Amino acid sequence: MKKSHQINPNRSINLFTQCLIILFKKYSTLRYCFVICFLLIPMIYFSHAICDNHQNNENKYAEVFPTHFFDTNTFRYIPISKFQSPSHRLVLLWTSLFQEYYWHQEAFFNLSTIVSCSVVHKCQFTRDKSKLSQASIVAFHLYDINRYELLDRRELNIHNQSWIFVTGESPINFYYHNPSFLPYILNQYFDRSISYKYDSPYLIYSPIVKSRILPNETLNLSLPYTVEIDTERQLNMKSLEPKKKSIVWIVSNCATFSQREKYVEELKKFIQIDIYGRCGAPCTTKNNRQCKMNLNEYYFYLAFENSRCKSYITEKFWKIMTDSNHRVVPIVMGAPEDDYKRMAPKQSYIHVDDYKTPQDLAKYLHHLIDNPKKYLQYLQWREYTKIQLRFSLPWAHLLCPLCQMAYDNPLSSNDRLNFSSWYNETAECHPDDVKMFKKCKQANLRALMSTIHGMKCP
Ligand SMILES: *[C@@H]1O[C@H](CO)[C@@H](O)[C@H](O)[C@H]1NC(C)=O
Ligand SMILES: *[C@@H]1O[C@H](CO)[C@@H](O)[C@H](O)[C@H]1NC(C)=O
Ligand SMILES: *[C@@H]1O[C@H](CO)[C@@H](O)[C@H](O)[C@H]1NC(C)=O
Ligand SMILES: *[C@@H]1O[C@H](CO)[C@@H](O)[C@H](O)[C@H]1NC(C)=O
Ligand SMILES: *[C@@H]1O[C@H](CO)[C@@H](O)[C@H](O)[C@H]1NC(C)=O
Ligand SMILES: *[C@@H]1O[C@H](CO)[C@@H](O)[C@H](O)[C@H]1NC(C)=O
Repeated sequence: MKKSHQINPNRSINLFTQCLIILFKKYSTLRYCFVICFLLIPMIYFSHAICDNHQNNENKYAEVFPTHFFDTNTFRYIPISKFQSPSHRLVLLWTSLFQEYYWHQEAFFNLSTIVSCSVVHKCQFTRDKSKLSQASIVAFHLYDINRYELLDRRELNIHNQSWIFVTGESPINFYYHNPSFLPYILNQYFDRSISYKYDSPYLIYSPIVKSRILPNETLNLSLPYTVEIDTERQLNMKSLEPKKKSIVWIVSNCATFSQREKYVEELKKFIQIDIYGRCGAPCTTKNNRQCKMNLNEYYFYLAFENSRCKSYITEKFWKIMTDSNHRVVPIVMGAPEDDYKRMAPKQSYIHVDDYKTPQDLAKYLHHLIDNPKKYLQYLQWREYTKIQLRFSLPWAHLLCPLCQMAYDNPLSSNDRLNFSSWYNETAECHPDDVKMFKKCKQANLRALMSTIHGMKCP
C-alpha cells in the first residue's frame, strides 16, 4: 500500500513527545519547561484538526473538472449538463483517494484508462456530489472518509444505487491511524467492497495464477507448454549461479504491529541478512529496484507484512512472486499460512509459522543453501505455474472495477455489509498484534511505552 500518501498527525505528536522526554532527562532543572511544553501537545493536536483543509481542496478542484464527464463518443471532456448518454451509468467518487482528489491523477485523467473502462463497461465518472441521486455507484476510500461528514444513507432513500468502499489496509493499521473512527456507524451502510480480503468481489492485490498443465494432461503436455516449462527450468538452474548471499530485506517501516523487526533481529544472529531501505542501508530512490544491491545474488527475500491479519497478503509478496527476472524465494510473515496456501503455488514460499524459533528457521535456510537441489524445489513452481498481477499499480486501476459494479444489483438494506464484524481487528488479526495495537492506541501513551517498556509503537 502506498504509505507515502498517508499523513499521520499522530506521528508528529509522537516524535514531539519523545523529544520532550529527552529534554526532560537532560535538563532536569528545567522541569517546569517540560510541564509547559506538555500543554502544547493537545494544542498541536487540535490545530491539526482545524487545519484539516481536505474540504477546501475539494472546493478548489471542483471549479475545474468534476463537473465534466469524459465523453467516450467524442473523446472529450464535456460538462455534465450536456451529457447525452443515459445508457452510461454514473460512478460518483465521493471521497478522495489518499487525499488525491482524482484518485491518482494520472489514472483518473489518463485517457486510455478511462476510455477502456468507459467503453467496455459503459460508465462515467464524476466527483460532483450534486449528482448523488443519479449515480449507480457511490465510491468511498475508507482512509479518506471523514466521519463527521458521513451521509445518513437511510435518510437519503435512493434506490438503484450501490455504495462501495475501498481499503487496502489491515483493520489494525486502519483504526490505529484513524482513532476517531467508529466501525459500527458503517454497519449496513455499504453494498460491496474492494479490498485485500477474499470475500470482496474485487481484490486490490489480485494475482492470476495460471497453471501450465491442463487437467488430465499431466502426462501429455501440449507442445507450447513443454517449451515454456523447459525454458523456465533452465532459468531456474541458471539463477543459482550468481547466488552468494543468504537473505535480503527491503523495509521502510521500522516499527510494526507484527514486530517483524524483532523477529529479524533474532534471525540475524543465526544467518546473514542484508537490510535495505529506511531501516537499513539507504536506497537511492523509493523504488526498491534502485537499491544498490543485486536481488539475484540472494537466496531468500523477506516478505514480512506490517501486521498479521487474515488474508492480508500485499504486493510485498506478489511483486517478488511475479518477478521473473529475480528468482528469489520469499520468506513470509503476515496472514496465516492457510491464506498463503490458498493463493500461492505449492512450495513457492517459506512461512515463518512453520518454524518454532528464528533459529530453527535459520537452520533450515542454511540447509537449503547447502543443498541446491532442495533449494531449487522452491523455484520449481515457476516451471508449471505462471502468476500475473492483474494490476501492476493496484490503486491506479480501481476505476474499472467500480465501473463494472455499476451494473450489479444493489442489495437490500438488511443484506448490506455488517462492517464492524467484517473489519474487526480482534477477530481478524494475530492476538499479539492486537495486544500491541491496544497498548499503543492512545497517542500520548506511545512515547511513554517506549521509555517504560522499551517498546516502539508504529
Ligand atoms: C495511461 O496509461 C497507460 C496504461 O497504463 C499508459 O501506457 C499511458 O502512457 C498512460 N498515458 C498517460 C498520458 O499517462
Ligand atoms: C431501478 O430499479 C428498478 C427495479 O430493479 C427498475 O425497474 C428501474 O428501471 C430502475 N431504474 C433506474 C433508473 O435504473
Ligand atoms: C480426467 O481423467 C479421469 C481419469 O483418468 C476421468 O475420470 C475424468 O473424467 C477426467 N476429467 C476430464 C475433465 O476429462
Ligand atoms: C497427447 O495429446 C495429443 C493431442 O492432444 C494426442 O493426439 C496424443 O494421442 C496424446 N498422446 C498420449 C500419449 O495420450
Ligand atoms: C453486526 O455484527 C455484530 C457482531 O457480529 C452484531 O453484534 C451486530 O448486531 C450486527 N449488526 C447488525 C445490524 O446486524
Ligand atoms: C470482534 O471479534 C471479537 C472476537 O471474535 C468479538 O468478541 C467481538 O464481538 C467482535 N466485534 C464485532 C463488532 O463484531
